[in-house]
Amino acid sequence: MKHVLVCGGAGYIGAHMARWLAQAGHRVTVLDNLSTGHREAVRWGEFIEADVLDGDALARAFQGGRFDAVMHFCAFSLVGDSVKDPHAYYRNNVGGSLNLIGAMRAAGVDKLVFSSTAATYGMPQHSPIDESQPIQPINPYGWSKVMVERMLTDAAAAYGLRSVSLRYFNAAGADPSGEIGESHHPETHLIPNVLKAALQGGVVNIFGRDYPTPDGTCVRDYVHINDLAQAHMQAMDYMDRQPGAHRFNLGSDMGYSVMQVVEAARRVTGREIACLFGPRRAGDPPSLVATSAAARRELGWKPAYAEMDGIIETAWRWHQAPKY
Ligand code: UFG
Repeated sequence: MKHVLVCGGAGYIGAHMARWLAQAGHRVTVLDNLSTGHREAVRWGEFIEADVLDGDALARAFQGGRFDAVMHFCAFSLVGDSVKDPHAYYRNNVGGSLNLIGAMRAAGVDKLVFSSTAATYGMPQHSPIDESQPIQPINPYGWSKVMVERMLTDAAAAYGLRSVSLRYFNAAGADPSGEIGESHHPETHLIPNVLKAALQGGVVNIFGRDYPTPDGTCVRDYVHINDLAQAHMQAMDYMDRQPGAHRFNLGSDMGYSVMQVVEAARRVTGREIACLFGPRRAGDPPSLVATSAAARRELGWKPAYAEMDGIIETAWRWHQAPKY
């Protein structure tokens, strides 16, 4: 059993992680400032309400904790907002990570799994995207994650801090139990918006249908939230074997267009789901599809969800009876 500090464990991905760790028999402490996370989502382990920008609070958490590893999910993650207010993104995402690395170092905790993103690649030069693709983000959000990855490389060389940065493609779905799920205010993501339209009889705004893709709508790689959680746990074990700072893509390696997602949601929900086609959303690359071969090979990762319908079924269960 390990004692794991889950920073940002009240958020969508962090809460699923806390559940996954607890179910595997690990001890969990969640640290979250509840700025976007939900207190009701913290159901596994102890809870510390604190901000990673607060160095004193972090030091206290580490004094009380004796953690074996840290998982770091705290971040602002809306691409458009990062363009409007880059300072807020660098302060929170880079500054918070800097504090966390400092607190880990002071406490002698030397293993960190970091939430990175496909946004590090910007407009990819080839598809599917592997980790050798050039790093050239097209927004401050992506840059903020690249900067942390860089800090982790330097911290590995200087202090022996072990880390795995996991570059998520599109996190999707919910735990099949229906206990926790995706709840953002405001909601910007495609699948929740499609399911809300299914529930409430509203309309889904489709951002662009003139992309160079088979049906003209953007193609993304949707990866189930519990598959992400599984990869984090394997990354924790990997750091027991491997020093250094590592980076892996996490995707299902399948591309679905926006309209294919809507069609899957129509099948799963049995509802019409009206669509309204509008202009492109600024900063959306036409297609982002991963190859996660490195994570499968190095971490032993075997995602359980391959099909969009299965992912949407779990999300639909949550959206019909959200707990927060
Ligand atoms: N979309 C719509 N209508 C909506 C919402 C989204 O048409 O109401 C489209 C978007 O234009 C995009 C696709 O659906 O083509 C997926 O959009 P999401 O907002 O669900 O997800 P993104 O691909 O924009 O973003 C995700 C993460 C980000 C991360 C990015 C990495 O949420 O944090 O992947 O590429 F930066």
